[in-house]
Amino acid sequence: MCGIIGIVGTAPVAERLVESLRRLEYRGYDSAGIATLEEGRLSRRRAEGKLRNLEAVLREAPLEGRIGIGHTRWATHGRPSVANAHPHATTQVAVVHNGIIENFRELRDELLKDGSNFESETDTEVVAHLVSRELRGGRSPQDAVAATLPQLKGAFALAFLFDGEDNLMIGARKGSPLAVGYGAGEMYLGSDAIALAPFTDTIAYLDDGDWAVMTRDGAVIRDAANTEVTRPVQKTTASAFLVEKGNFRHFMAKEMHEQPEVVAHTLAHYIDMANETVQLPTDLPFDFTKLERVSIAACGTAYYAGLIAKYWIERYARLPVEIDVASEFRYREAPLPRDGLMVVISQSGETADTLASLRYAREQGQHVMAVVNVPTSTIAREADVVMPTLAGPEIGVASTKAFTCQLATLAAVAVAAGRARGVLSADEERRLVRALVEVPRLMNEALKLGPVTETLSRAVSRVRDVLYLGRGTSFPLALEGALKLKEISYIHAEGYAAGELKHGPIALIDENMPVVVIAPYDNVFDKTMSNMQEVAARGGRIVLITDKTGAEHASLETEATLIMPDMDPAITPLVYAIPVQLLAYHTAVQMGTDVDQPRNLAKSVTVE
Ligand code: AGP
Repeated sequence: MCGIIGIVGTAPVAERLVESLRRLEYRGYDSAGIATLEEGRLSRRRAEGKLRNLEAVLREAPLEGRIGIGHTRWATHGRPSVANAHPHATTQVAVVHNGIIENFRELRDELLKDGSNFESETDTEVVAHLVSRELRGGRSPQDAVAATLPQLKGAFALAFLFDGEDNLMIGARKGSPLAVGYGAGEMYLGSDAIALAPFTDTIAYLDDGDWAVMTRDGAVIRDAANTEVTRPVQKTTASAFLVEKGNFRHFMAKEMHEQPEVVAHTLAHYIDMANETVQLPTDLPFDFTKLERVSIAACGTAYYAGLIAKYWIERYARLPVEIDVASEFRYREAPLPRDGLMVVISQSGETADTLASLRYAREQGQHVMAVVNVPTSTIAREADVVMPTLAGPEIGVASTKAFTCQLATLAAVAVAAGRARGVLSADEERRLVRALVEVPRLMNEALKLGPVTETLSRAVSRVRDVLYLGRGTSFPLALEGALKLKEISYIHAEGYAAGELKHGPIALIDENMPVVVIAPYDNVFDKTMSNMQEVAARGGRIVLITDKTGAEHASLETEATLIMPDMDPAITPLVYAIPVQLLAYHTAVQMGTDVDQPRNLAKSVTVE
């Protein structure tokens, strides 16, 4: 995840910017840079690799100036290099960026036609040129940024510095977090409280769509409609700096809202955005073309991610997949094909049953791929190849951002396998990559369902049982939605394949049991609708999660219909995870349970 820092200071800033970037090293990066105003003129220093390389450059060519911005870059568009390192700049403006600008290609083409010259392959540099174009048109820096932001599609955080403006810094947030720090005659911008810790413990988190115009006297914060707003200013305690809740009441809420950013970073690890292809970041110790079958083992939410991956790997790589819960796999003495592939999925990388499954697979001569969120974990260390999920620390026991990062990683593996096996065309790969690149923005849209799921949760919190239904990749998501609800609200819930309703569960249907139906308007929508008719005919209370077209076609009364943005059917599990997480979260809050530490549960089950 990229790191952002900005200081509108009363003393030299170069060293302080680097000090703050050092505190952001935990986010992972491959290059870094800072920009300041020296006697009003924009000046930059950038370096590839670790901060010590940037410090060496600054020793050779120090930067003066009392105002500046800094950045640690996790490469998304364009390989790690000095030219691609932030800040990106024109003669008028410098900018640092965290996230993905989805429509950078068409913006870049338009700017090239206008005569802009680009030095880098990045999406960020496009933002600098857009603002410059507005400045050249006579707009003030504030108005130039206000005119630029609506042109950007994606999830991002930005910080701007302007040539000749020694008392002005602008920050903007849409999907990736950004905080304003308040100092004594100084103001700060940072990706999180950790970045700001060396300077202040008084911060305000920008909300989605906000942008802040900052001078040494303070910050004027405006929302996406450019209406001036105030955001709560809070004291962050030193102990909370490492992992803190920000403006959220629970870690689970914070982690749900981090998903656009961390899924963007996970995708960027596996996708070459400029060429719209999947590039797995490591040499694989096996050949996809020689595999007869893939085995998957995992527990809980990670198992449901594996179930979704089964659909993707079989559909896009034409590879048969056998999947087990790890606690069963480790004992059933499964016969495994020679030189086969075992994929283990684990947020913690320490789950005992999953580790035991890994060891069984290795004894049986399998290549083991681990999809894990903790690269130093036991499972990571014992695997042949690690595919990291870049969710960052997940504190809430109920897994949310790790789950969607697992899906992002597994989707990339499925596409890479399909291409390697020659069963997925370059055009199909491009379609899937474009769909994946839209996920962070779509997640951001889906998170706006918070209020409606909170209202719905009041009714759900009064029932004893809930049924979740789905078909295709929405079936494992129904299982995940049921798990989320039961593990944090303690309300019994179960997920079922919608087509199985008639084979038993329909006996349960009555007005006391809400039925949550996950049904994007895809190739199995009509089949699921007939299941819904069966539920409605028996007085069942339906909560439908669909898109606009699905809502138009679902001709029946529902308790509630949650309308999702339109999207490629291939990525619905990533985005439809958001409403099922939100519903579980708000119901648990209604129930007054310990949302982050539910009873009887541990974050990592390291025993059998
Ligand atoms: C999910 O919300 C639960 N916390 C639990 O099912 C979890 O997914 C499971 O224990 C697996 O944990 P792991 O991903 O760390 O292996």
